[in-house]
Amino acid sequence: MKFFLDTANIEEIKRINELGLVDGVTTNPTIISKEGRDFEEVIKEISQTVKGPVSAEVISLETEGMIEEAERVSKWASNVVVKIPMTENGLRAVHILSQKGIKTNVTLVFTVAQGLMAAKSGATYVSPFLGRLDDISSDGLALVSGLRQVFDRFGFETEIISASVRNIQHVEKVALAGSHIATIPGNLFPKLWSHPLTDSGIAAFMKDWENFEKNK
Ligand code: E4P
Repeated sequence: MKFFLDTANIEEIKRINELGLVDGVTTNPTIISKEGRDFEEVIKEISQTVKGPVSAEVISLETEGMIEEAERVSKWASNVVVKIPMTENGLRAVHILSQKGIKTNVTLVFTVAQGLMAAKSGATYVSPFLGRLDDISSDGLALVSGLRQVFDRFGFETEIISASVRNIQHVEKVALAGSHIATIPGNLFPKLWSHPLTDSGIAAFMKDWENFEKNK
C-alpha cells in the first residue's frame, strides 16, 4: 500500500519523507491557501522533495479552463498530477487529458458510480472522501471497498486514493478494504507510528536497565 501526505507544508513533508514513508503528496486549494505562498513555487518545491506523484488542483470549472490549467501545471514538474473535480466538465477534461498523456486525480468522489465514471473517462486516480461521508452519517469505508471491487472486476487500472482521512482507524480500514493509497494529513501521520504502550514500555526498559547498571 502507498501513503501520500495530504499537506503542502514542506517541513511536514521533509520530516516524514526522511522515514521513507511518503509515496506522493496531495493538495487542494484549501491546503495550498494555508501555506500563504505562491502556488507554483510550493508545487515545484514539493515535486523536487518527493519522487512520487504530487496532486495540484485546477480552479476552473469549465472544461477548456481545466485543460489550460492542467497543461500549465503539469509542466512544473514531471511528477505533477492534475486534480480535477468530479463534474461533467471535469470528466470531459479528464478524457481529453488522458489522451494527451497528462495524469489526473478525480477529486470529491462520494459514490461508486462517480468513481466508475472517472475511471472510464481515463482518470489515473480517484479520490473518495471518507471523512466527509462519515460526517454526514454515511459510510466512507463502504465506498472505498465498493470501488476496489468494481475496479478489480472490470480491470480498471485507476488507483484509489482514500482521502479525507481523519484517524488511524480510517487508515487501517482502507488498507484492509484494498485501497491502493491513503492520503494522510501531516498532523495524523506521526500517530500511525505511535502508541502510549510503546512509550511506557521504553521508559520501563530504560529504568530497569539503569537499576541493573547501578547494582552491578
Ligand atoms: C485530498 O485529496 C483531499 O482534498 C483531502 O483529503 C480532503 O480532506 P478534508 O475532507 O479533511 O478536507
